[in-house]
Amino acid sequence: MSRPVVTALTGPGESDLVTALGATADYTVARRCADLPDLLAAAAAGLGEVALVSPDLRSLDRSALHELASHGVVVGGVTEPGDELGERRLRQLGLDVVVRTDIPAPDLEDLLDGLVRERRSLAAPTGGGAQADGGAHGSEADPEDLDVLAAPPAAPGRVIAVWGPAGAPGRSTVALNLAAELAVHGPTLLVDCDTYGSSVAQALGLLDEAPGMAAACRAADQGTFDLLALARLAPEVSPDLRVLTGIPRADRWTELRAASVAQVLEVARQLGAYVVVDCGFCVEDDEELSYDTLAPRRNAATLVALESADDLLVVGAGDPIGLQRLVRAVQDLGSVPSPSSRRVVVNKVRASAVGSRPERRIADALGRFAGMDELSYLPWDQATLDAAMFAGKSLAEYAPASELRRAFVGLTEAYAAVEPRYRRRRRR
Ligand SMILES: Nc1ncnc2c1ncn2[C@@H]1O[C@H](COP(=O)(O)OP(=O)(O)OP(=O)(O)O)[C@@H](O)[C@H]1O
Ligand SMILES: [Mg+2]
Repeated sequence: MSRPVVTALTGPGESDLVTALGATADYTVARRCADLPDLLAAAAAGLGEVALVSPDLRSLDRSALHELASHGVVVGGVTEPGDELGERRLRQLGLDVVVRTDIPAPDLEDLLDGLVRERRSLAAPTGGGAQADGGAHGSEADPEDLDVLAAPPAAPGRVIAVWGPAGAPGRSTVALNLAAELAVHGPTLLVDCDTYGSSVAQALGLLDEAPGMAAACRAADQGTFDLLALARLAPEVSPDLRVLTGIPRADRWTELRAASVAQVLEVARQLGAYVVVDCGFCVEDDEELSYDTLAPRRNAATLVALESADDLLVVGAGDPIGLQRLVRAVQDLGSVPSPSSRRVVVNKVRASAVGSRPERRIADALGRFAGMDELSYLPWDQATLDAAMFAGKSLAEYAPASELRRAFVGLTEAYAAVEPRYRRRRRR
């Protein structure tokens, strides 16, 4: 049976490649598309099992590849001989198979066979191509940035998603201070994925317009995102703590698309031994019910973070409403792909909200009504947090002896104990 291939090739070698395809036993050219819209239409119409694309095909980006994948089409890249930049771009877009237009027919056939085998396990392209080779667009890099390429972690870092229900239980406070404590144990990256109200930039006194996550996702979408790009976008705010700030305005949530966020988190694992993600509160995926499955989804960033994470830290507030929402939130997680490694931390613990010996009372209530027993607690201390926020610092820097900070050190042990997943970088 012959397998239909659709092509969208731009260079002079196009006819050579089409000839080679014609000489294979199993593949036929079903359509030679003039541009990307033509290719997407052919894929949507089911004309091809395989699509072949050139690196300079106009508007080719991760979303387009995602769309092709959603039609069940596997994609291979094609470059003119010697076009190394083009090959690199295609690989950064996540394409594993990239051939030259002068490839002999038997070799082409082998590679296409490999692609088609992959088709069965077809999923959205992820960041397989993001390599730490620092070439093409590394020329104007800060030497400090290039340092990360010299000795990347030996093993991928752990992604810890910090999540919790609505009502500001303290997700961002926990994410920031957990990251600051983890930085003592190894290179750490704090990523703000909250598409309802990012706050990490402000908490650390970084510029409002820091490009952060929005720029990282744009680069991922355009196939120019790699370790070096991430190092540039995520400044080091204190030793071994880097920050990728969130979208500066909540109405820019459409810029954080699932496929791009997934790649950003994958590359983040190469930069940090620990990657702490501040998530939005909402995990509803009602867009799934929509007919337009390719439309951006408001909660995509949080859902992707939960799905990619190794550990989930659920944050709830230690007052009656906060605790009820916490129980609900943990139930809601049942229907969301998320790590089985889960901890619950009750924040803002105070006797005035639940009565004397608040930890005991909270443990009783959560144990009895929700079967939660492994709990951590963080005491109420608004004054210290306000002052730390005002100074743009973490508690580790601003109030290292405070009770709340010491509670963060205790919480961190649960994660820092899970070693060794990295080789410590030599600091300059
Ligand atoms: N342990 C605590 N004691 C007192 N106040 C706290 C504590 N933790 C957080 N807060 C305060 O609660 C408020 C909300 O915290 P934070 O921004 O971390 O919550 P969030 O869950 O990220 O909220 P959002 O929904 O805005 O993302 C802040 O003013 C913060 O200082
Ligand atoms: Mg927040």
